[in-house]
Amino acid sequence: MTRQIRAFIIFLTVFVLTLAVSCESENADNFDWPDYDPTPIELEIPGGFPPVIIPPDNPLTKEGINLGRKLYHDKILHIDGLLSCSSCHLQEYGFTSPGTAILPHINLAWSRNFMWDGKFDMINVNLEYVSLFEVEDFMQTNVSRLNEHEHYPGLFYEAFGVKEITSTEIAYALAQFMRTQVSGNSKYDQVLAEGIGTPVFTEQEMWGYELFFSETGDCFHCHGNKLFTDNKFYNIGLDSVFEGVNKGLYSVTGNPADLGKFKVPTLRNAALRNGFMHDGRFKSLREVIEHYNSGVLNSPTLDPVMTKPGKEFGLGLSADEIDALIAFIHTLTDEEFLSREELGPP
Ligand code: HEC
Ligand code: HEC
Repeated sequence: MTRQIRAFIIFLTVFVLTLAVSCESENADNFDWPDYDPTPIELEIPGGFPPVIIPPDNPLTKEGINLGRKLYHDKILHIDGLLSCSSCHLQEYGFTSPGTAILPHINLAWSRNFMWDGKFDMINVNLEYVSLFEVEDFMQTNVSRLNEHEHYPGLFYEAFGVKEITSTEIAYALAQFMRTQVSGNSKYDQVLAEGIGTPVFTEQEMWGYELFFSETGDCFHCHGNKLFTDNKFYNIGLDSVFEGVNKGLYSVTGNPADLGKFKVPTLRNAALRNGFMHDGRFKSLREVIEHYNSGVLNSPTLDPVMTKPGKEFGLGLSADEIDALIAFIHTLTDEEFLSREELGPP
C-alpha cells in the first residue's frame, strides 16, 4: 500500500466518523433553540381590587402570557382539532357564550374555587390545576402534536426552558394568560374613580347601586367587593329538591350541608349574558332578580340571607326598583375588556 492510499483511507475513516458523530448530535438536537430568558411581567391590578396570589413556580412572563394567548385561541389543544378554549369562551361576551351556562373568564386570577359545583376536587385550587384538567381531561390534548409543531417547541422553550412539552407547561401557559383576563374598567369603576372627566351615574343607576349595596337588595353579601363575587358557594333557593346537576357542591364533598350550593359568578359583564345560573334557567336579568324578589324556594341548606327577618317572602322590590338594579348591573359592562386586543387571537 502506498503512503498516499494509506493517508486517504485514514482521511476517509476520520471523515465518515466525524459525519456520523455530527449527524447523531444533530438528530438529538436538530432544532435551533432560541434563548431562555423570559421577561417578568407585573399584573396590572385595578384600584380597590384585592391582592392577587401568583404561584411562585409560575410567575407571569411576557413569553408565558403570549404563549398562553396563542394556545387559548388554537384548536390544536382539542383531541380532534374541533375546539379552542375561545370557541366557547368568547371575548365579546366576557369569555362565555350567549344562551349557555358556560362560566365566564373574568378576573379568575382572584379565584380559588372553580366550576359551578366545584367539579371533582376543584375546591381551593389554582388556575394551573384547573387548566391541567381542561387540557388532559376536557380537551384531551394530543401533546405530541405540539412537540412536532413548527413553532410551539421554540415558544415553550422561550417561556419555560423545556425541550419536551408536557401538559403541565400547556396548563401553566394557559393559567398565565387567564390571569391577564382582568376586567376593572367599566362605567362603575370610572364613576368610583371620581376624577376630572369621569362619568357619573344616572339617577336610576345610582338608585340601583344603593339597592345593591344595602339591606334592601342584599346583593352585596355574596356579590360584594370589586370582583362582584366572594368566590364561595351558596344555595340561593332555586330548587327545594336536589337531583342531578342541581346537587351542586354536594356532588363533590358528599356533605348534605352542601346540597344545592353553587359558585357565586361575577356580575361584571353579566348584562351581556342571556343564560343565567348553573343550568342557564333564567334568560334575562329581570328573571334573575324576580327570583330573588319572589321565587326563593325553601330547603335545609338555603342561605339564611334569603329568608332573613322581614324577607321571608322575598325582597319585596317594586318594578321600578327591579329596573334600577338592572340598570346598575349594566354599568358593570367593560367595553375596553371586551375588545382588548391582547386578549384576542394573536
Ligand atoms: C365546549 C365548550 C368549552 C370549551 C371548548 C372550553 N370550556 Fe371552559 N368551561 C365550559 C363550561 C360549560 C364551563 C362550566 C362548567 C362547570 O362549571 O361545570 C367552563 C368552565 C371553565 C373554567 C372555570 C371558570 C370558573 O369561574 O370557575 C375554566 C378555568 C375554564 N373553563 C377554562 C377553559 C380552558 C383553559 C379551555 C381550553 C383549554 C376551555 N375552558 C375550553 C365550556 C368550555
Ligand atoms: C347568598 C348569596 C347571594 C346573594 C345574597 C345574591 N346572590 Fe346572586 N348568585 C349567588 C349564587 C350562588 C349564584 C349562582 C347560583 C346558581 O347558579 O345556582 C348567583 C347568581 C346570580 C346571577 C347570575 C349570573 C350568571 O352569570 O349566571 C345574577 C345576575 C345575580 N346572582 C344577581 C344577584 C342580585 C342582583 C342580587 C341581589 C338582589 C343577588 N344576586 C344576591 C349568590 C347570591
